[in-house]
Amino acid sequence: MKLRGTTVFTAGVLAALGAGWAGFPRVIHQTRQQPVDFSHQVHADKAGSKCDDCHAFLPDGAFSGIPKLDKCSGCHAALMGTTVAEKNFVDRYVTPQREPEWLVYARQPENVYFSHITHVKCGNLKCEKCHGDHGSTNTLRPHQQDRVSGYSRDIWGTATRPAMTMDACVACHRQSHLEHSCLDCHK
Ligand code: HEC
Ligand code: HEC
Ligand code: HEC
Ligand code: HEC
Ligand code: HEC
Repeated sequence: MKLRGTTVFTAGVLAALGAGWAGFPRVIHQTRQQPVDFSHQVHADKAGSKCDDCHAFLPDGAFSGIPKLDKCSGCHAALMGTTVAEKNFVDRYVTPQREPEWLVYARQPENVYFSHITHVKCGNLKCEKCHGDHGSTNTLRPHQQDRVSGYSRDIWGTATRPAMTMDACVACHRQSHLEHSCLDCHK
């Protein structure tokens, strides 16, 4: 009888641990969908767009980042196709002239300083080197953010995207024989 009670108790503890373990990643990450079903692939194939049509460097060297709505409105003033994704985008954002609130997968903590022009123009690095295949994807994966630290989950990398942690930055700098002080990267 005593043995049976212990077995039931142990099974109960294991089940609770298992449930917690499986649920943990979902609980600590806040998962949000992007505002628009944007496809990089469609724009490369059907509009013939190049990366710097949308992600340009400004004359002062600053990186434009994610394009503003006015980059899209020229082509999407009227519907170009028949997809639901495009109709939703035009109805919700283009017609009312409302900026989509894009979520940035690679976003670093506030205290990190990162410059695109240094890496892309001076360092001659391709976008893919850090962002993986994002520029040729057809759908947008959900954005996941750690509820406690505020970190975007993408910083840790996946099978198709390299990590963007401090260790990853420093590893590439070492390969290029660069040594940076803490304050080069931290504000
Ligand atoms: C028609 C405009 C357009 C073109 C052309 C374009 N992009 Fe984008 N890009 C966007 C928009 C809008 C977003 C925000 C939605 C998203 O994350 O995809 C974005 C986001 C990104 C991001 C996500 C950054 C992050 O961490 O959240 C990367 C990386 C990127 N683009 C790379 C590229 C590359 C590489 C190319 C060329 C192969 C390219 N883009 C061409 C509009 C464009
Ligand atoms: C050079 C013209 C051009 C520009 C600039 C442009 N688009 Fe498009 N967009 C297109 C074309 C062409 C299609 C495909 C239409 C079709 O045949 O279904 C498209 C399709 C779309 C779709 C539907 C996606 C799908 O899966 O088919 C969305 C959403 C969209 N665009 C959003 C944007 C946003 C956001 C921007 C600005 C960052 C933008 N577009 C800039 C030409 C453009
Ligand atoms: C050396 C690594 C590296 C390379 C190369 C690189 N990026 Fe990034 N990118 C980052 C990091 C890190 C961030 C996050 C910056 C931040 O949070 O301050 C970022 C952010 C972005 C964003 C989000 C917008 C923003 O606010 O900064 C876009 C869009 C983007 N990159 C597009 C590109 C494109 C297009 C290229 C190629 C022309 C490129 N990146 C090359 C590392 C890189
Ligand atoms: C794939 C390689 C690579 C990765 C990854 C990388 N860097 Fe760099 N970084 C370089 C190279 C190459 C240079 C020197 C460019 C030049 O020739 O000036 C550089 C230069 C710098 C500089 C000094 C130049 C300046 O703007 O003052 C800083 C700061 C920097 N990187 C920060 C970062 C941070 C932060 C990350 C991670 C989020 C990062 N880097 C990831 C290759 C990389
Ligand atoms: C090449 C750029 C680079 C250099 C050099 C660098 N860091 Fe970082 N550091 C980062 C990036 C990017 C992050 C955010 C991603 C992460 O936590 O791995 C970070 C995160 C951190 C964090 C965690 C902050 C938090 O909010 O959790 C600490 C602490 C830190 N760095 C301290 C240092 C110290 C101390 C030095 C000097 C010995 C240093 N770093 C040098 C790029 C750098």
